[in-house]
This record gives sequence, structure tokens and C-alpha cells, in this order.
Amino acid sequence: MPDTRNRVEVMHGVNLDQLGRRAAEHYGDLTFTQLEVAISAAADELGLITRFFQTNHEGEFVEHLHGLDGLADAVLLNPGAWTHYSYAIRDALELAALPAVEVHLSDVEAREEFRRHSVLSDLCVGRVAGKGPDGYREALTRLGEELGDG
Ligand code: DQA
Repeated sequence: MPDTRNRVEVMHGVNLDQLGRRAAEHYGDLTFTQLEVAISAAADELGLITRFFQTNHEGEFVEHLHGLDGLADAVLLNPGAWTHYSYAIRDALELAALPAVEVHLSDVEAREEFRRHSVLSDLCVGRVAGKGPDGYREALTRLGEELGDG
């Protein structure tokens, strides 16, 4: 067991790999690779170690959560549309039993009705939406606080 708890698993779900092609008014114009570079730089500044995972397959997302035991201290997740309805991801997140923050690039509260509901947020220590890539820094800061207190 390492004495520093600073390993954050950054998990992106369905369609997030298409950033750069998606509606810029909601998601900005960074590509997915550029977003991951920005997250990694923010994590470095905060003294956090990140590992990145993205899939368009719900079962892979679930299985990745299953495999985190002993490999991560916290989870930053943007599951995309799964956020709004995947009880399978919810159950897997509960099983992972790690501090988690949910992030959305867009302001989900100000969009279609179905985006206002998250089946995950009550399992998370925080939720950030509508702040674009800066929201990830905020989420990492929140997780850093959580791990520092632990
Ligand atoms: C999203 C918001 C979701 O409603 C949407 O389905 C996404 C991205 C966001 O980052 O704003 O794919 O999670």
C-alpha cells in the first residue's frame, strides 16, 4: 500500500473520443487528445498521478471500474450520455468504492431535460458541469482535497 494516495483514474465514456467534431457551443473545440493533455498538466501541478481510459462500450467501462481495486485512489469520470441512465455503471461505481467526481464539459442543467438527471451523482463527492476543460481542474482539486483528508 503506497503511503501517498494520489492516483486518479480519469474515465471518459461514450462519444467523448469524438471531441473536436462535436457541437462546439456545448463542448468547445479541443480534441480529446488535447483535453487529456490539459488534464494531465493540471494533475501534475496538483501532485496527482493520472491514468486515462476511454471507451464507447458500456461493459468495458463497467469492467474497468471492476479492475480499479488497488490501482487507483480516486476516480474522475465523464461517462457522457451513460450518466443519465446507466444503472450498470452506477452499480460498478458503487462497487469500486472510491471517491469520485462527475464532470461534464457542457452545462447539462441548461440543456435538454434528460441531461439534468444523473444516476451517478449521489455516489460522487462532487459534480462539475458547464466549465469546459477548467471543470476537470476543479474536479482534480476536489479529489486532491478528498485524498489529502483520507
Ligand atoms: C457530457 C454531457 C452528456 O449529456 C452528453 O451525453 C455527453 C457529454 C458533457 O461532458 O457535457 O456526451 O457528459
